Amino acid sequence: MSTQHSPSPIRANPIPSPRRFGGWRLFLVLAALLMGTAGAAYLLGPDAVEGSRRAIRVTARTSFVLFLAAFTASSFASLMPGPFTRALLRERRIVGLSFAFSHLLHAIAIYTFGQLSPEFWPGRSTLANLPGTIGYASILLLAVTSHRGLARRMGPAAWRRLHVTGMWVIAAVFTYSYFKRVPMNAWYAVPSALLFTAVVVRLIAKRAQALRHGTRSLMPGGWASSRPWSADARGTMNDRRS
Ligand code: HEM
Repeated sequence: MSTQHSPSPIRANPIPSPRRFGGWRLFLVLAALLMGTAGAAYLLGPDAVEGSRRAIRVTARTSFVLFLAAFTASSFASLMPGPFTRALLRERRIVGLSFAFSHLLHAIAIYTFGQLSPEFWPGRSTLANLPGTIGYASILLLAVTSHRGLARRMGPAAWRRLHVTGMWVIAAVFTYSYFKRVPMNAWYAVPSALLFTAVVVRLIAKRAQALRHGTRSLMPGGWASSRPWSADARGTMNDRRS
């Protein structure tokens, strides 16, 4: 294709670009950081019981940061296109899988705490465990179906429905988990406000995209750009409206 255009010194003598950092290498780096953070929280506790509680809190917080990044990646890429937001969108799948890994560490910390303080599980009702259980079921479903082969077999419409619903369910569990702690400590209002902002950003991006698609549909060929779900140019599964 490029040979048909006017010769460019850059194209004629391509300089091999450095391999882009991302994909599974990014996952391994994030996983190592997450394990280091959770391990440090555990070891820095005054004792194993308090250490495991700290690890529960720290892993919930690392999960929250990664979740927010995955939840808003598409919106920021469309509202503020740039190298960082494009890279975040490109790596959204890895960020999502790192979020799932962080929550695996949350589960391990909860298990450890339960082993160290036998009164923990009997002191919790089924109702108290319900939001977390629903949250974990959603995380598992999203992680499993992020496998490209499985996603292809599901088809774009079903995949999109599952992933949009799953993300909103997890957002609701975070909202509940943080909001219920505000009376104990006013600082918990900060993550609650961040979640609210993330939801607003998503709604604004969706509205902006709808307006853009509406304008394009008035032009010839506009239909092609209004397809809701497609594999983007980089081969990643990209739901432009989520
Ligand atoms: C049945 C499953 C779950 C159980 C038993 C559980 C248990 C806990 C416990 C005991 C704490 C408090 C630790 C402490 O302060 O001593 C905690 C904190 C938290 N959990 Fe979970 N959790 C579960 C699932 C989830 C899920 C699925 C999410 C989110 C999607 C989540 C998000 C949080 C958050 C945001 C905190 C507060 C962390 C902080 O203090 O900053 N949890 N969890």
